[in-house]
Amino acid sequence: MQNLSRPEPLSAKDKGSFAFDTVNRRMPMILTRVIDSTSKLASKLTEKNDNVKADNVKEIISKLSGLKYEMETNKPLKILNDDEDDVKMWNEYLQETKSLVPGKDLAFYTGAWLLCECYMYRRIYQAFTSSSMFKTHDPFSDQKRESFFSTIDSVKSLSEYIIQCSTTLGKNPDNEAIKLEFETLLQFSLWANKCDLSVSGGVVMDSQHTGMAEQLKILKTWILVDNSSEVWELLGTIDRSINHEIHIDFVLDNAGFEVFADLCLAEFLLSLNIAKTIFFHVKNIPWFVSDASAKDIEWLVAQMQQSENDYVSQLGKKWKSRFEEGSFQMKKHKYWTLAHDYSEMKTNAPELYAELSKAKLVFFKGDLNYRKLVGDRKWPHTTPFAKALWGFCPAPLCSLRTLKADVVVGLKPGQDREAEAKDKQWMVNGTHAVIQYQHSL
Ligand code: F6P
Ligand code: MG
Repeated sequence: MQNLSRPEPLSAKDKGSFAFDTVNRRMPMILTRVIDSTSKLASKLTEKNDNVKADNVKEIISKLSGLKYEMETNKPLKILNDDEDDVKMWNEYLQETKSLVPGKDLAFYTGAWLLCECYMYRRIYQAFTSSSMFKTHDPFSDQKRESFFSTIDSVKSLSEYIIQCSTTLGKNPDNEAIKLEFETLLQFSLWANKCDLSVSGGVVMDSQHTGMAEQLKILKTWILVDNSSEVWELLGTIDRSINHEIHIDFVLDNAGFEVFADLCLAEFLLSLNIAKTIFFHVKNIPWFVSDASAKDIEWLVAQMQQSENDYVSQLGKKWKSRFEEGSFQMKKHKYWTLAHDYSEMKTNAPELYAELSKAKLVFFKGDLNYRKLVGDRKWPHTTPFAKALWGFCPAPLCSLRTLKADVVVGLKPGQDREAEAKDKQWMVNGTHAVIQYQHSL
């Protein structure tokens, strides 16, 4: 019944929109890159005379090429046919969801953008998981790793910063100083979302985060909604001198520098005893090119430990033991790689909703999580965040997101016009950001 008054979802049928651009240009480009890198893999195997594996990879390429053809010719979205445990939910969703254009099939150019985009990544996964020898192959792994190396200077500075900050604050627990450091680390975690590989079509951009520390002050003026003091109102009242069981959750977004900055914020929360445990919700399958899987985080921590930089290796060792002793924990759930928005979680994944409800606070990182929080709908920009959440608020939540899709809520009247005057692409190029907080509904 609630659905009647929600605006319609974004879709490719809106010419000139970012949704249109993504479906027509970016998604085919990403798929082509996957086909190219998989073809290179096949050639390498053939060169090595590993023909059984090469044939297996060729079958994958043929499936991916079939998907590309379906996309380009706007064929109806086919149901999934692999053995994974999310197939039932995916297929029910595909069968229940109506196309936006009456009388038309649910297809890439006429279906909801969120659904079509998630579907593409799920079908890429299907091509690999239904093979016999490359079931767990991540076609985006090399790009994610390369992107981490391109940000190594920022990793070094932030590692030094977090280690020194924990030491200084540990000696002198002055509330105001702690609040300031919290806000700084929150902003690192926010801006680390600025560039992701699905927006750049999978092209790694050199040193994209270099110099961020100095830029934080200037960047502040680009935050359209900043609820960080409300977040601190919640965390600042925690008694840090006692032994408590508080846990804080991160619904993660991208691997590489973004997840590194998230772990720095988490480290700060633990070292000041604001939380006892941090849960990191990761993706189960390769997702939106750069999203973080458990493997990506394990790789990151291993890389850090081997670094020749003392601060980086010290932090890497600390995080390794945090994962071993359980103060950092990774959590997996298939819901994060379905196309459902979060207002549907209570009904469709009640156990996950119940788990999130136990958190003191849940951070939702990045643009895709934001789109799922607000249902990827054409909300007027002044719609209250609380309304757009559409009943979803398992625990106090905070969205840290740079804008990369034509959806945003919670703005003051006229704020969108001002932003547009500054930058025509303000909704989609990651220059603007929001820190939006909801305590309860
Ligand atoms: O492909 C474009 C896009 O779908 C964005 O609009 C989107 O939400 C983004 O990719 C992924 O961004 P993030 O990594 O911040 O979730
Ligand atoms: Mg992402």
